[in-house]
Amino acid sequence: MSLHIGDAAPNFVVDSTQGKIDFHRWAGDSWVFFFSHPADFTPVCTTEVGRTAKLAAQFAARDTKPLGLSTDKVDEHRAWISDIDETQDVDLDFPILADTDLAVSRLYDMIHPEESATEAVRSVFIVDPEKKVRLIMTYPMNVGRNFDEILRVIDALQLADRRRIATPADWTPGDMVIIPPSIPDEEAQTLFPRGWNAVRPYLRFTAAD
Ligand code: BEZ
Repeated sequence: MSLHIGDAAPNFVVDSTQGKIDFHRWAGDSWVFFFSHPADFTPVCTTEVGRTAKLAAQFAARDTKPLGLSTDKVDEHRAWISDIDETQDVDLDFPILADTDLAVSRLYDMIHPEESATEAVRSVFIVDPEKKVRLIMTYPMNVGRNFDEILRVIDALQLADRRRIATPADWTPGDMVIIPPSIPDEEAQTLFPRGWNAVRPYLRFTAAD
């Protein structure tokens, strides 16, 4: 099955380092950063999981719960987490799914057979509180993800939902944002009373707040 942005994030029930997880119930009203790893005790994954643990306060500030996945077993995950805590100087407290039968990996299209028939590639899914898939990224086995970008895109999605705006290339919080073409000038006057800079009729920049 292949998932697309805008699709409902499929539910699953699977064992994890924090017990059985019913995905939708566990997510509750929060956003979710769901990310997969090829395998435990591998160097790139170790840095990524460690970085996620280090960013716990940043994810919490965005009401976003991290959720990891690899196709190894819970006992292996737990032993690996001890290693991650020690080598990355963290205290990892988010669950990692043990998708030993690949059921979730297949459901979320994380198995790319030309890469590996048994290990998940580095997938990222950002899921919103309505359980809708809002972002999908896929990284190769040998390239670690950029966590600044993951936080940035969560910020952009949450701001877009709050303010009905879009964000330009390389946007970071505090930068000017874009009034989408679907909002006519008359409505924009109500939504953005401080005005905007129309570089073109279709390219209108305004302050984010
Ligand atoms: C890693 O996580 O370090 C890794 C996994 C698969 C291939 C290469 C690196």
